[in-house]
Amino acid sequence: MEGELVCLGIESSAHTFGVGIVTSSGRILANESSVYRPRDSGIHPREAAQHHANVAHSVLGRALEVAGLRLKEIDAIAFTAGPGLGPCLRTGATVARALAYRLGRPLVAVNHGVAHIEIGRLSTGFEDPIALYVAGGNTLVTTHSAGRYRILGETLDIAAGNCLDAFGIKVGIGPMPAPEQLASRGERYVPLPMRVKGMDVSFSGLLTRALALARSGQYRIEDLCLSLTEAVYSMLVEVLERAVALTGKREVLVVGGLARSRRLSQMVSEMVKLHGASFEQIPDELLGDNGAMIAWTGLLMLEHGMTVPIEESRVRPKFRIDEVEVPWMRGRSKS
Ligand code: FE2
Repeated sequence: MEGELVCLGIESSAHTFGVGIVTSSGRILANESSVYRPRDSGIHPREAAQHHANVAHSVLGRALEVAGLRLKEIDAIAFTAGPGLGPCLRTGATVARALAYRLGRPLVAVNHGVAHIEIGRLSTGFEDPIALYVAGGNTLVTTHSAGRYRILGETLDIAAGNCLDAFGIKVGIGPMPAPEQLASRGERYVPLPMRVKGMDVSFSGLLTRALALARSGQYRIEDLCLSLTEAVYSMLVEVLERAVALTGKREVLVVGGLARSRRLSQMVSEMVKLHGASFEQIPDELLGDNGAMIAWTGLLMLEHGMTVPIEESRVRPKFRIDEVEVPWMRGRSKS
């Protein structure tokens, strides 16, 4: 590890409290986490934040143990500044500030969406990809242009993952991956309203319609799962395909929790082949929310002097990906 910097990253934007330890050459030394599981349906922000506070000490300890490092060997502390749930973000930020203060190390405030893309680039070696970021709380298509990740398309209402989770929970089968598992036993496609407006997508009407059909009792739940997952994925792939055609870029990443879907990967892979572009699946442990992606992005930012004084390190629940300068991408892309 001679000459390398080591960054400890803390992720706490939603269900996951994660601590990752990464070196400046991109070696992931540890990536530990604990996930809050709601008692009933959705996520309760304050309960999730309480979970994060309860597990912070043990997850941090585990990460250091796995990495074989002591706290004083850490060179920088990074944390998720947003987007995410306020109480959850604040819990992670508090831990990060305390560590940075105690160790006298620089603090880096990371955008969660940028981190998903950067860990995807690290994992695949892609230089200048188009990224589809799909999860329970986020849905967007983005690529780098002129120093920032620009949003080419996004959801106008709920996230794709939220649509599938909410359907699964309300019909009593549970959140993803249950709807996709049942979809594999579906036999009949029931037409559903697919809303793609320009480069944006809308899932709330689709969810309402699918739930109404479920309540009608006229359809097998497997067939509705098949129809809903196919509709959601088709909309995402349609927008992604336009982005590939529009930009002429040749690398495609799918990141975020919903990127674990094998069916979505298959559809993206088929589309990408038609355009002579490349798509690579990222390992599952780097797809969901994790601390390693925050640590790695923290190192990229640190190299460019993008640190934040502790007293100014507020969290930003609505932090958009296109608000962040990504100077390490300059010169990488044609645009
Ligand atoms: Fe995420």
